[in-house]
Amino acid sequence: MSSLSTTSTHDHASSVHLGYDPEEHPREVSRHYISASDDDLASMLNKVGLSSLQDLFSHLPKPQLFDGDLSLPEELSYKDAAEHLHQISRKTNLHSSFIGDLLPVWKVHPIVEQVSQLRPLSTSYTPYQPERSQGTLVTHWIYQCVLSALTGFEAINTSLYDRSAALFEAICCARRSRKRSGPVLLAQSLFNEDISFLNTHARGTDLEFEMAPLNPSSGRLDYAKIENLLTNQNTNISALVFPQVNALGILEEVDRLVDLARKWSIPSIAVIDPMLLATGGLKPPSEFGSHGADFIAGEAQHLAIPPSFGGPGLGLFGSRYHEEAKKDLRNTPGRYIGKAKDSQDRDCFVMVLSTREQHIRKEKATSNVCSNQAFLATVAGANLLAKGENGLKHGLSQALSSRKQASEWIGQREGVELAFPNSPAFNDLLLSVNQDPDTLIRRARECGIHLGVDVSSRIPQSDKNLIKLSFSDAQGEEEMAALKKFIFDFFPASSCTQDEIETPSHLLRSDPTNLPGFSHDELLNYYEQLANLNISPDDGCYPLGSCTMKYNPLLNDWAAGLAGFAQAHPQAPEEDVQGPLEVLYEIQEWFKSITGLAGVTTQPVAGAQGELVGLKLFQAYHHSRGESHRNIVLIPKSAHGTNFATAATAGYGSGIVYLQANEKGMIDLADFRQKIEEHGTNLCGIMITNPNTSGIFETDFSIIAEEVHQAGGMVYMDGANMNAIAGIVDLSKLGVDAVHNNLHKTWTIPHGGGGPGDAIVAVSEPLVPFLPGRQIRKEEDGFFRSFVPENSIGTFHRNWGNFGHKVRAYSYLLRLGKKGVPRMSSVAVLSSRYLFEVLRFHYPTLPGQAGEIARMHEFILTLSGQDFERLEKAGVPKSQAIPQVGKLFLDFGFHAPTVAFPEVFGLMIEPTESYTKAELDRFAHAVIAIKYLVETFPQVVASAPHFTPIDRVDEVAANRNLCLSEKLSHLPSLPVNRIQPSVLLGLEIEEVKKRILQIHDLSE
Ligand SMILES: Cc1ncc(COP(=O)(O)O)c(C=O)c1O
Repeated sequence: MSSLSTTSTHDHASSVHLGYDPEEHPREVSRHYISASDDDLASMLNKVGLSSLQDLFSHLPKPQLFDGDLSLPEELSYKDAAEHLHQISRKTNLHSSFIGDLLPVWKVHPIVEQVSQLRPLSTSYTPYQPERSQGTLVTHWIYQCVLSALTGFEAINTSLYDRSAALFEAICCARRSRKRSGPVLLAQSLFNEDISFLNTHARGTDLEFEMAPLNPSSGRLDYAKIENLLTNQNTNISALVFPQVNALGILEEVDRLVDLARKWSIPSIAVIDPMLLATGGLKPPSEFGSHGADFIAGEAQHLAIPPSFGGPGLGLFGSRYHEEAKKDLRNTPGRYIGKAKDSQDRDCFVMVLSTREQHIRKEKATSNVCSNQAFLATVAGANLLAKGENGLKHGLSQALSSRKQASEWIGQREGVELAFPNSPAFNDLLLSVNQDPDTLIRRARECGIHLGVDVSSRIPQSDKNLIKLSFSDAQGEEEMAALKKFIFDFFPASSCTQDEIETPSHLLRSDPTNLPGFSHDELLNYYEQLANLNISPDDGCYPLGSCTMKYNPLLNDWAAGLAGFAQAHPQAPEEDVQGPLEVLYEIQEWFKSITGLAGVTTQPVAGAQGELVGLKLFQAYHHSRGESHRNIVLIPKSAHGTNFATAATAGYGSGIVYLQANEKGMIDLADFRQKIEEHGTNLCGIMITNPNTSGIFETDFSIIAEEVHQAGGMVYMDGANMNAIAGIVDLSKLGVDAVHNNLHKTWTIPHGGGGPGDAIVAVSEPLVPFLPGRQIRKEEDGFFRSFVPENSIGTFHRNWGNFGHKVRAYSYLLRLGKKGVPRMSSVAVLSSRYLFEVLRFHYPTLPGQAGEIARMHEFILTLSGQDFERLEKAGVPKSQAIPQVGKLFLDFGFHAPTVAFPEVFGLMIEPTESYTKAELDRFAHAVIAIKYLVETFPQVVASAPHFTPIDRVDEVAANRNLCLSEKLSHLPSLPVNRIQPSVLLGLEIEEVKKRILQIHDLSE
């Protein structure tokens, strides 16, 4: 990518430097990121028999539509949007920082930036099609192997949302695996934010916690009391959770804790920071006690990206997997990458143990997590490999030497001392000061220093004034000089000195991690090759129904990388992070307008977490009205698996009632009314996807909502399909009480090979007081201040959710403005309706009786009975027919449509608004050619795909003989594209067809 500013094409006079020329990317500069020309739109409208974009929605009930413009600003030009984003980012004051704490900050290798620009890696979908996703799969394999080397754990999950989420999943997994149901013993020395997250999630479920007490005179856990507690409670405790480095920055006695848990057969869960486990660092959790901890959870965002005002995070979760410890793994939340073989015995990688998305087991799912933080794992792997053994070791030693220096300075001053000089610490420094910590922190700020965090309240029984400073390789000479000056200016010299104990060797790593070393060039070249194995929505229609794979603007990524956003620490004083708070405030207000609802939380990080926020809000609302007995959740059978899994996670597992669909694929009103009759008095709420998963708008939605409300229930709308109705339908008029907006679908956030996603949740008036996290208000003088809603249900993220994604959505909305939002949805619906109109004469469609009912943004194709028979004769059983036909899409350079959901025999196609008519026509031509091949040469389906780097993968064998990590001594060797995706996309469809037939010695 060229490194040009916008000067030549955009008359740019300011300091904004994009690092690319937008004019070189036609999709980037098209209005509203819609590639189709006015002629294209007119021609498509003509094909579907309509005369205007508004006509696309004429079948929706009029009273439910917006009757004016959204309260969004007018759209900005590219140049003005860039300038505006730059100006807001400059409102952040970046000081020399020693905050760390909830989110440590370490240097990130430049390779991260370079890998992030490899669009087939950053914008591709979850690797469900391994033949076309080896790029993503290998990056995750590398992440698993490197994290395994650091932690000693054999099975590293490809990611969860953040540390708190990983901890929650670890607790659920430990209890499930060991079949234990008693309370979980939580160390009081964990971060309060993690404990709050756990409490929020546990409410309404059978999960209970007991606190393992802190010893106020050591700043560590009170081990004797824990021992007594376990002895008295005997085996009732279901898991023990403790940190390696606690919230005060002190090291816990990890060996003792793990052995103690083991003595009582209690699974142990260690909270760790993987960065501190490098050579020269702390003891890896696999070596805690006599056998190692059972599970690990931790934050790994700082292994991948800068603080980014708290997110996207990277939740690290690991379990053991070796001869004596195999059982736990099968109970872990899904998604690992395993070694595999393709049908030609080529080495390759595939997702294993997947319990999510298409594989999710509805209410039997053990976790509702679907999108994870995949791309953070991709870049974390690259960052760690680029730093290598020596780089990581050097980083740690720099942190330790900075800490040592600071500790010596403190030792020479009066009024400040080490709080617990006899308790071991590592790279944190806990200071006890003789004045109000807040005042001191404020004074440091005036000197350009973010000194640290006031942690006095973390020891409840103590009256010490405590400030915690964190050291890493991010503080250089300048930062240290500033710190020294501050300490020497503010604290007078002392004649006494203070001794501190050395970190004892039993808490430290004894062997090196032996990570391999690679040159920057070698690694970059390797990741570029990986990108070539994937495909991106940049290059053409990426038709995954329900997933909304649209074009992801470069401007968004540029904005998220601006220093004022990317380098902002979530615990910095609000005065210094007005830029990020302004973005969050605007987004909060804009989504009220987009949904028509009264309140918004920007905290949830994925659709499934948004669903959980919704149900937890319903729970709290009913509880506040003395109606905690309401335990029934109605969910249509065709809903996405996360809806059921979420209801189970929220504590409604036994109260899920399925709703039937009518012959047209919509909710069957008669069945719904019968269920209301039966369950109305116990109704908690209903979850409805609208438009539904067949791409059909539920025209009875408001009737259903009204009847749910009459019964005392609440209405959740799964907003995965907002791309069809944003700016068109007013959700308040539909009767919606809560809805999530997947930023990684409608709002142009890249999918990252499976995540991170994001999900802003909007709610109706009665739920506003219960919103989670913090709200932001704009004060009269323009200052942005945050506050906690009066009856908040708690927290779903340690900070502000995936903030970087909020910047991306904000950047997108600046370019769309009030007119662009409805235009975007309209063109998405038109593109889909156009394709449907072309393809329905070639394929049968689903639902079977839906006939010509107007489809919205997506539709479902299937095969005829004869086709299934032909395929069966050609060796493709009916159960495999649709997935195999999906593989033929890969041969034409496209990704496969969504298969097997919501219809087992369906190919769900969603084109989005990103493509020109010519691109849609080429796609339609390919889909028609695929049907021809099925009908005429069914034998070619059995061996599809033909041009990808690998053939069909034996997923069953990969799941049976799990290999989840190995010692990385070299980079995994890579298969080669038999035909490059860029070449495939340039070939005539007839030519591709011919080449497929040639492989089989066939001709037309
Ligand atoms: C209809 C629907 N609901 C919920 C989800 C879950 O969203 P997420 O993956 O963001 O958790 C999806 C994801 O594809 C979906 O398509």
